[in-house]
Amino acid sequence: MRSSFPLFPDSASTHAGTVDAIFIIWSLVSIFFTALIAGLIVYFMARYRRRHSEEVGANEEVSVWLEIAWSVIPLAICLAMFVWGTRSFFDLYRPPADAVEYTAIGRQWMWKIQHPEGQREIDTLHVPVGQSIKMKLASEDVIHSFYIPAFRIKQDAVPGRYTSIWFRASKPGVYHLFCAEYCGAEHSRMIGSVIVMEPRDYQNWLAGGSAGKSMVASGGDLFQSLACVTCHRAGATGRLARGPALEGVFGSPVKLVDGRTVIADDNYVRESILNPTAKVVAGWDPVMPTFQGQVTEEQLSQLIAYVRSLGPIGSAPAGGTGGTPAGTTTADSPSAATTPQTAGPGAPQ
Ligand code: CUA
Repeated sequence: MRSSFPLFPDSASTHAGTVDAIFIIWSLVSIFFTALIAGLIVYFMARYRRRHSEEVGANEEVSVWLEIAWSVIPLAICLAMFVWGTRSFFDLYRPPADAVEYTAIGRQWMWKIQHPEGQREIDTLHVPVGQSIKMKLASEDVIHSFYIPAFRIKQDAVPGRYTSIWFRASKPGVYHLFCAEYCGAEHSRMIGSVIVMEPRDYQNWLAGGSAGKSMVASGGDLFQSLACVTCHRAGATGRLARGPALEGVFGSPVKLVDGRTVIADDNYVRESILNPTAKVVAGWDPVMPTFQGQVTEEQLSQLIAYVRSLGPIGSAPAGGTGGTPAGTTTADSPSAATTPQTAGPGAPQ
């Protein structure tokens, strides 16, 4: 399928049907009205042409109902398409609760992929069929665009912030992965493959890879080695408490010194690491140093994965400091919705 040049890309995700239906129906509606209007123009030109040189045009009596009809019917069609398209758009950008998060970092000129289990790939993305997968996107240099035509998804990767999109692959196979934003001389070579596998094959592939640490475990190591833990210590009091404990913070509202309240999502935690004084938590002094330049994009993702895995104080320990976290494996593990590996409750993208 990759060697040929098909008119239409494969349909290999649960988004594909809706996106194609919207595209095809909008095309048919447009063709119908273009043909109707062009045909009427030609017909009226012939029918109402001036026959004698002294003939003067007269006002035609036009039915009010005709005027109402040709205003209301197109309006209704446009509104219906708008509602349908908007619903589909929101669906594309709101991952379901059981989505597993993968990270893709764009740089000139490659895609660096990190699996939640710790596997890394370049320009190749292995995923199990039937599993909802949220792609968290970042960029190390310029704007790239993560584009999988067979899944009908495309989302910019923007330097300095996170964006995301999600998909659920519906058909095993090998599909194109493109960068769809001009990003420099070798933009056209920033291409790769998405390999959709049966869950069992995917597990075998994971097991055959190098035994890296999971995202959460790597983030936990960084939390120690960067000495985050000396200030963000659960249960510290008095002079030992120099920063807020991070347990249970992710996905929750945070009150700031300036009175605002923000949700602690990916972009908030990212900003707090790189630019700690931008949003200082109420009740704390702005004493945290910046970690700009000390952590890579990949390490930032790992730190955030670790912070997200920290449940409320006193809850069961986060399942991340070693081994494969539960719920990140097969499509038929409903427990995925409850593990800290998944997207936080209602966390905006
Ligand atoms: Cu990256 Cu084009």
